[in-house]
Amino acid sequence: MAKAKAKKVKAKKIVKKVKKAVRKINKAKGIKKVSNKARRNRVHISLGKRSFPMPQQKVDRSHEVFDYSKMRHKDLILVLDFGSQYTQLIARRIRENKVFTKIVPYNVSIDEIKNLKPKGLILSGGPLSVYDKGAPMPKAEIFKLGIPILGICYGMQAITEHFGAKVKPSEQREFGRAELFIDSNKDLFANLPSNITCWMSHSDEIKSLPQGFVTLAHTLNAPIAAFGNRAKKIYGVQFHPEVVHTQRGVQILMNFVYQICGCLARWTMDKFIDTSIRQTQEKVGNKKVILGLSGGVDSSVAAVLIHKAIGTKLTCIFVDNGLLRKNEAKSVIKNFQENFKINVVAIDATERFLNRLKNISDPEQKRKIIGDEFVKVFSEKAKKIKNVNFLAQGTLYPDVIESHSPTGGPSAVIKTHHNVGGLPKNMKFELIEPFRELFKDEVRIIGKHLGLTDSILKRQPFPGPGLAIRIVGEVTKERLEMLREADEGVVDEIKKAGLYNDVWQSFAVLLPIKTVGVMGDQRTYENVVAVRCVSSTDGMTADWVPLSYELMGKISNRIINEVKGVNRVVYDISSKPPATIEWE
Ligand code: XMP
Repeated sequence: MAKAKAKKVKAKKIVKKVKKAVRKINKAKGIKKVSNKARRNRVHISLGKRSFPMPQQKVDRSHEVFDYSKMRHKDLILVLDFGSQYTQLIARRIRENKVFTKIVPYNVSIDEIKNLKPKGLILSGGPLSVYDKGAPMPKAEIFKLGIPILGICYGMQAITEHFGAKVKPSEQREFGRAELFIDSNKDLFANLPSNITCWMSHSDEIKSLPQGFVTLAHTLNAPIAAFGNRAKKIYGVQFHPEVVHTQRGVQILMNFVYQICGCLARWTMDKFIDTSIRQTQEKVGNKKVILGLSGGVDSSVAAVLIHKAIGTKLTCIFVDNGLLRKNEAKSVIKNFQENFKINVVAIDATERFLNRLKNISDPEQKRKIIGDEFVKVFSEKAKKIKNVNFLAQGTLYPDVIESHSPTGGPSAVIKTHHNVGGLPKNMKFELIEPFRELFKDEVRIIGKHLGLTDSILKRQPFPGPGLAIRIVGEVTKERLEMLREADEGVVDEIKKAGLYNDVWQSFAVLLPIKTVGVMGDQRTYENVVAVRCVSSTDGMTADWVPLSYELMGKISNRIINEVKGVNRVVYDISSKPPATIEWE
């Protein structure tokens, strides 16, 4: 009885809090009372098991210029990046729960923070120890802004240091799963059971609580696994709530975002589409836009979105470099021209690319040649289209963050080497990059809203230099033919087995060696194909997938029976690192 009463009181308090937040928003917008009509149109956000009404208000946006920052719809969480491999994951998790989140360098200026008016700050993890020489530390002023703060792993240790308590190497380093015992089921840990499994990745320990803080959770090895200063609204967790291995990790993050920071769920992709279309129309006016269409997710969704905004003022340029998969060029052109009625100029540049790749075996040289030729072909075509002012690109948020990150971001080195297909900076176009602030998952949702099919949206990643880096050694027409057939065999069998969307990539590689075999009564001396199938979340690390013997048998039989010139199939059982995904 008493418990039920306490729950009721708690619920009432939360409702009161939300109502207060709503009143504050209304006041800021000059709205005194929510009309009955608006009341009827309310949408519901879910907060744990409960749901609270949220008024939908008409906002006059006629004054807006083309500025994607205007899409933040007020509630913003800033993640200060201390170099963790999980920083982007924090932002993705929160955005998935409809609150806009932006990643900024750990040393972002206080003026910039004030300007952005975030409702909460999250200090990410990082690879160093806070007591290391040169370890990045947050600016002291962030703790005086009155904005709620959550420190994750390194971020929590940085808070500890700032408030004068001690961080030391722990006797028991914790990597991987650990049992977390929650000592206080309030705010940060509201609506959670008393113990959960969490994901730890640290070798330092918080030895004493900073003044004004209380312990909120512990593990067997870490007596202070979470802490908080409720008066100052500053919290820290030693584990990573953003990774899937932490049970109810999203609930913890969203307790911070919804309950502690008072954010409302307003970041949705349909709103983004509307705003983006309107802003593209305003920016482009009567001018023209070109876009390099590759058939991949980003450029495809960008093409459809921009076409929806400006129709025939958009021209897509599709360069067939002769290094694509079987029937790919045809199907991309057909899909965009016939289904979406988009103006696509297709150029078959196969001969140009193959001529330049003659006698070239070195993978880096192949990449350079393909990148260089792409720019030439694209620029030649672009020049022929008159009155073009804008170049549209499907640049994603991770590319923007990596180029700005103080630590270079975890994938910085790999990205530069992969940057094939980029256009030179001296092209005299203004850029339109509608997805500069979005993650790939968000672009997929937009694509779905705009009617793109899963065959485009859920397509496995395909490298810019195409099949050229899946032929070890020189690239020739004959080898490309062989690889195309083998590749189709692999992908088709993986699809039939229902695995296509569960694995990161599945493909064939043509090796530059011949081995002996027998077919019928004949001795053969033919090529070897390696089959690669990996699981990964971002391509940075990958595991080989243990396909069933039956499926491996099917793939092997199919390739050897159907691909002329191949008499042996092998399966690649190396993970990344130390191997890479592509053989190059
Ligand atoms: P590696 O071979 O380095 O590949 O383990 C990691 C991921 O990147 C893809 N990849 C590329 N993607 N342009 C791209 O857009 C490229 O030049 C490129 N090269 C490799 C690769 O397929 C894998 O998913």
